[in-house]
Amino acid sequence: MRIVLGVSGGIAAYKAVEVCRLLVDEGHRVTPVLTDAARRFVGAATFSALASDPVPEGLWEPFEGGIAHTRLGQAADLVVVAPATADLLARYAAGMADDLLTATLLATGAPVVVCPAMHTEMWEHPAVTENLATLRRRGVQVVPPESGRLAGGDEGTGRMAEPETIVRAVLAALGPDASPTGFSGAVAPGVPALRRGDLAGRHVVVSAGGTREAIDPVRVITNRSSGKQGHAIAEAARERGARVTLVTASALPAPASVDTVRVESAAEMEAAIDAAARGADVVVMAAAVADFRPKVAAAHKVHGVPELVLEPTPDILAGLVARRRPGQVLVGFAAETQDVVGRARRKLERKGVDLLVVNDVSAPGAGFDHDTNEVTILCSEGRTTRVPLGSKRQVADAVLDVVVARLHGSAGGPADERPTAEHETGHTGESR
Ligand code: PMT
Repeated sequence: MRIVLGVSGGIAAYKAVEVCRLLVDEGHRVTPVLTDAARRFVGAATFSALASDPVPEGLWEPFEGGIAHTRLGQAADLVVVAPATADLLARYAAGMADDLLTATLLATGAPVVVCPAMHTEMWEHPAVTENLATLRRRGVQVVPPESGRLAGGDEGTGRMAEPETIVRAVLAALGPDASPTGFSGAVAPGVPALRRGDLAGRHVVVSAGGTREAIDPVRVITNRSSGKQGHAIAEAARERGARVTLVTASALPAPASVDTVRVESAAEMEAAIDAAARGADVVVMAAAVADFRPKVAAAHKVHGVPELVLEPTPDILAGLVARRRPGQVLVGFAAETQDVVGRARRKLERKGVDLLVVNDVSAPGAGFDHDTNEVTILCSEGRTTRVPLGSKRQVADAVLDVVVARLHGSAGGPADERPTAEHETGHTGESR
């Protein structure tokens, strides 16, 4: 297939070289289109040496086959821009066409994937947020940046996604025939495999974030969940071909092409999950649902220290198990800090789910709010899969690997390690 690889002027341009190489390795025709600023970071010769097609010089220079931007835009099966700087996003959102890349973006009817990269302050600027919202509304897929080291030694969110992540998004957008090699075989060890299309035709429902239970119109009871793990699962399931409904109590942006339902309380989450789960093949409860709430929320702001009477929230997972449709795979999560696997095994049995993903939320880099996680996936048949510390997206794919294996009738899943040792059962005073 024909891919235009747009490169704008940020330090992450060096990573676009790897994106180019991986796409060529997948058998695609790649035409790199560099902005003037990009050429200050990486020379056209580097891309020419790796790409299947030469790097066009610019909007005004002769182009084999006609007018460069219209020919490139019309012939492309996909345009990916990596990195997409704040300036490039602004010009694209505004419909400007003042260089070969922006002109090509306007001239194409092909899917477009943009991979923003910039400093945290710029990434969080309302102008960038609004430009991305505009592009998303127009169907542009956004591969969000990650947290980590930025240019100039700074740290924060804004670092371009890794080349493998970008390539996976590009191949997913191109469709089922885009990766003849299966992608996973062509990359280095440790790079996540491409699980293209293995959830096609499936409906996956995911919950995310920490619910907020009202004390009064001003205060809430909540927890530390950011929603990152649930959003990563929704995004991974979508990229693997599923129709995805995300029920989220988090303020994180909605992943591209995912039906997102915003909720606040456990009761709202229960209603949204129940409605979505009726026809779903898979439900993943990654949300940290508050276990209790004030019995009565005050209608007006409470002055002084209130005496709270608490009651349990609805157990959403228990309701799902009670109403489970045949073949539906139910996945619970568990946040633990002690006797992690033992407690999780007992919780799995008590809850009656197919899989329980447990994270030790006291371990460094794992659980609430981190960009990384480390989990053990327990199957109802007694097998475990340990997933080492990695990005929440990697954890999401590991969980979905086990789900997919189950949907295909293999309860253990391809990555299972060994049967779990027996754990004692009985009352332990554990949370729900
Ligand atoms: O959101 P992040 O910052 O990325 O953090 C991710 C996470 C730590 C929140 C996530 O990995 C996680 O562990 N989610 C589940 C946390 C939790 O609530 O665990 P629990 O052991 O209290 O609940 C067990 C299961 O029952 C969960 O699937 C939960 O969604 C579900 N539950 C809980 C209470 C309730 N009233 N109804 C439920 O369905």
